[in-house]
Amino acid sequence: MKILVINGPNINLLGLREPDIYGKQSYADLIAYIQKSAAELDLEVSCFQSNHEGAIVDAIQAAYGVYDGIVINPAAYTHTSIAILDALKAVALPAVEVHISDVDSREAFRQISFAGLACQTRFAGFGFEGYRKAMEYLKAFQTSAR
Ligand code: DQA
Repeated sequence: MKILVINGPNINLLGLREPDIYGKQSYADLIAYIQKSAAELDLEVSCFQSNHEGAIVDAIQAAYGVYDGIVINPAAYTHTSIAILDALKAVALPAVEVHISDVDSREAFRQISFAGLACQTRFAGFGFEGYRKAMEYLKAFQTSAR
C-alpha cells in the first residue's frame, strides 16, 4: 500500500518554531519517524512539504492513480483552504488529517477545518505519533474495504 504524507506551511521549521507547542524535533526527525513507522507497518510512503497552497493542490491531484491514501497536515491552510478541500474531494482517495498540536484546545480560528471535511478521520495533539496513527488507520481502512 502506497501512502503520500503531505505537510503544509511552516512544518519545515519544526524544532525552531514555537517549540513549546510543536516540540524540539526537526522536520528531518519527523520524516525519519514517518519512514521508520511505515517500514514497521509494511507501507510504502512518500513525504511532501510545501509552504504554498497551489503546490499542495498539485500534489493531491498528482496522487490520483499513484497512491492508495493520503495523510495530510495542511497546517494553517487547514483553517482557510477550500482549494485543498476540493482537491481532496476531487481525487477521493482515503485521507486522514493530522495535527501535531491539539488544535481543539487552541485559538477559536483553529477550530474550523476545511480539509477535514474530506478526511475519514483526524488525529490531533499526539505529536509525531499522529502520523503513525493515521498510517495505521489507512492500512486498516484499506483492509476493511476489500
Ligand atoms: C498545525 C496546527 C495549525 O493550526 C497550525 O497553523 C500549524 C500546525 C499542527 O500540526 O498542530 O501550522 O497543523
